[in-house]
Amino acid sequence: MDIAAQLEIHAKQELDHALIISRQIDYLGKMPAVTPKPVRTSEDAEDMLRYDLDQENETIRNYRDRIRQCEALGEFAMAEQIRQILVQEQDHQIDLATALGEDVPDVSGGPQARPMRKRR
Ligand SMILES: [Fe+2]
Ligand SMILES: [Fe+2]
Repeated sequence: MDIAAQLEIHAKQELDHALIISRQIDYLGKMPAVTPKPVRTSEDAEDMLRYDLDQENETIRNYRDRIRQCEALGEFAMAEQIRQILVQEQDHQIDLATALGEDVPDVSGGPQARPMRKRR
């Protein structure tokens, strides 16, 4: 598999995600943050793929939470937009795990997996 070509496709998709999310934030009447999180880098290609995979895992957990929040608020169209992004993020995760020769990580135990507190 040509990993460099795959990553080039991912990068273009990530830009699309940023634009879609920016539109949704604008719809909510807010301004998107423009300060990126620090980026971990390494001279070692395998380490770089590992860092990238870690980020995709976190992204997937976060988007799953955002979808649940959108649905709870009745923002079904926004949930749909994020679902489409999530499909691509899971593809990124699969591509990176495959490039590392690993199984796709199980990220189902995200913050949302905490047991819901019963209401009194
Ligand atoms: Fe993305
Ligand atoms: Fe991604």
